[in-house]
Amino acid sequence: MSSHELVKCIIRVIGARIEVRIAAATMLTIEDLPLGDKTVFLRVDMNTPVDPSTGKLMELNRIHEATVTIRDLGKSRVVVGSHQGRVGRDDYITMEQHAKALSKLMGKKVKFANDIFGPSAIKDIDALHNGEVLLLDNLRFTAEENMEFSPEAASKTILVQKLYNHFDACVLDAFPTAHRAHPSIVGFSYLLPTCAGRLVSKELKALKNIAQVSKAPFTTVLGGAKVSDRLEAIDTLIANKRADRVLLCGLIANVFLKAARKIDYDIGLDKEQQLVTKAAALMSDYPDTFELPVDVATDSGGERKEIPVSELNHQTKAYDIGSKTIDHYSRIIRSSGTIFMSGPPGFFEDPKFGLGTESLLRAMASSFGTTIISGGHLSAALERFGIKEWIDHVSTAGGALVLFLAGKRLPLMEALDNYEAKIKK
Ligand code: 3PG
Repeated sequence: MSSHELVKCIIRVIGARIEVRIAAATMLTIEDLPLGDKTVFLRVDMNTPVDPSTGKLMELNRIHEATVTIRDLGKSRVVVGSHQGRVGRDDYITMEQHAKALSKLMGKKVKFANDIFGPSAIKDIDALHNGEVLLLDNLRFTAEENMEFSPEAASKTILVQKLYNHFDACVLDAFPTAHRAHPSIVGFSYLLPTCAGRLVSKELKALKNIAQVSKAPFTTVLGGAKVSDRLEAIDTLIANKRADRVLLCGLIANVFLKAARKIDYDIGLDKEQQLVTKAAALMSDYPDTFELPVDVATDSGGERKEIPVSELNHQTKAYDIGSKTIDHYSRIIRSSGTIFMSGPPGFFEDPKFGLGTESLLRAMASSFGTTIISGGHLSAALERFGIKEWIDHVSTAGGALVLFLAGKRLPLMEALDNYEAKIKK
């Protein structure tokens, strides 16, 4: 089959007949499935930072991205699913605010199910008319959506079993959740005709273009709070020559500082000793790769106070990197061929701790290297500092992008490939 040839296939999937056009050598997208008058499950990622003091969503970037695919689904009956936050955290909230924001951004009513797969959600799904949109509640309110499964096992979960008969197809657009083998990512796609949404296509296209122009030396700046995800990916990033230097900030820097015996108190992380041991092993395997902060900013009576790392203890919390570290990291960034930043260097939401984040982002914006920024927090920071358009690619994804750049096969991509392979058979 030539690369431009369109082939028409009739397939039978779980009793449902659906006609599929395969655009050869590309990923299946919503043009390739006849979704016009069908009920479509659309898995997006509207997971958004939440202000812990007000419980309000802090920005709407990912919700905005979701509108593109929903609009392009036109007359389909669209059932949107997303997770929000993590169990036990302040950001683990219902999707009610998301439904309101989505309605506003779409300029039309988006219904909110207040349920996931119970009788009320099923009634709402079955009552949808062509062109209507329904948002299910936070998928992580079901225990199963917090666990990883093989596609086949995911297809047997209660979440998927209760719902899939009410859908004709599945559109996967949760690029930031591409690294999670959760039922909504790999389960529906095991049973239903499945294709990629607009965000997945847009991100993959941008990343492919970037891969063609990016050059060494590669510098990765890691900050934020998701330590174990980042640690898991660093090894692969370095081994695959995607990170010649790793500049550490935020909580992950504390783990490496502890591993390097520059601090020796309890950081307060789950499985802390395991993380520290892993960090120590990485520093020993790649001795010239990691840069650790030499100074940090703390809160002293409501003011920013910079101290050397040696003065840190369990009572003084670091909210930002200090000026010496900023200068050193900025110089490395400016002399790099490709710079990738994931997770904010400091708690920039508070202006007195925004210096590290702003300075390193500005160093990236003014560098001649290729620049990639990952995740919602940094995207919000770029907007605040007015330099978003100076960055080559601002991805909606955080942890998923780190793993993608590290060369890992991500469950969401596998789900798309598996369906395409199935219909080509
Ligand atoms: C993200 O923000 O990185 C994604 O929404 C995935 O969230 P998670 O790391 O809690 O799975």
